[in-house]
Amino acid sequence: MAVEGRHVVAVHGGAWDIPEPLWEASLTGVKLAALRAFEVMDAGGSAVDAVEAAVVLMEEDPVFDAGRGSVLTSAGTVEGCALIMSGSDLSTGAVACVSNLLNPVSLARRVMTKTPHALLSGAGADAFARSEGVQQLPVEELITEEARRQLALYRKYRTTVTSLFNTESGTVSANGDITGQPQQVAQQDKQLASPQQGHDTVGCVALDADGHVACATSTGGITNQLPGRVGDSPLVGCGGYADDAAGAVSTTGHGESLMKACLAHRVTQSLRHGLSAAAAGREALTYMLTRVGGRGGCVVVSSSGDVATPYTTARMPWAYVRDRALHWGGLVPCQHFTEALSHVSPSLRPSPQPQ
Ligand code: GLY
Repeated sequence: MAVEGRHVVAVHGGAWDIPEPLWEASLTGVKLAALRAFEVMDAGGSAVDAVEAAVVLMEEDPVFDAGRGSVLTSAGTVEGCALIMSGSDLSTGAVACVSNLLNPVSLARRVMTKTPHALLSGAGADAFARSEGVQQLPVEELITEEARRQLALYRKYRTTVTSLFNTESGTVSANGDITGQPQQVAQQDKQLASPQQGHDTVGCVALDADGHVACATSTGGITNQLPGRVGDSPLVGCGGYADDAAGAVSTTGHGESLMKACLAHRVTQSLRHGLSAAAAGREALTYMLTRVGGRGGCVVVSSSGDVATPYTTARMPWAYVRDRALHWGGLVPCQHFTEALSHVSPSLRPSPQPQ
């Protein structure tokens, strides 16, 4: 049964040590995406419509590692991955290693609704995009100067994906806004720590007025990854999970660790067993940190509308809308701002969606 005003949305812009020059743009990006998703549901859209709309907006924002702004493989190519899942029937669609899409999440949705499959990859996914008329761009239009600069830096210092993302064990604070210890990186990696090291993944979860949940996640992966690498983001249960009986989760962080921990599914299982969204997220991230030394974050919404945005990296820009208020933070420990939707600046209002 639809419940007026019940819908909730939460968005992340990637768990990583976002450098200060990108803070404002990252927060603006997640706030815009959360507001867009909320407006979609306000207009009667479903949770699936909402999470797709939010992720599309972030894929088009070059500040994030997804769509335009994706980081580059060791071959200098873009390989986008995305997942979308509906909690009403557990239907899921995903794409991996797509080469020239601005909006991989929209192709993932087509995989979910128009094929009998759950995941298409590489040339097959690109061909499916062509057959569906999904907009394909010259890859140059997806690559930013920052992505090129990061690849050059990573090559210079021969930094591996593992050494950048995996860390020694640390602590996790007790509240829902977990902030981990600073990355403990090798000396060569410290030189990468400024000013703009890699960012990671975007995602959204939503609960609509009919009580359905959904998640969507999209990423360009990790700078200097081998061509063909698939991280957690397009894998159901790792990059996201949605089940009306529990809630929805979208994850971010070190893909290989998230895969080992099946982080998103672990969170929803905890929700099923009665944990709060904050406790469920914290438990899973603590497990991943202590078990495999991996850091990351997630946004969580339970089927009752409980929200959490925990992370164990230095930062993870997040925003959510609930009870007609916009909440945001994630750049400094325990940061949490709130503003009534009626007071949100018009400049933060997303421009009208194309019909
Ligand atoms: N979390 C994104 C990736 O590891 O590819």
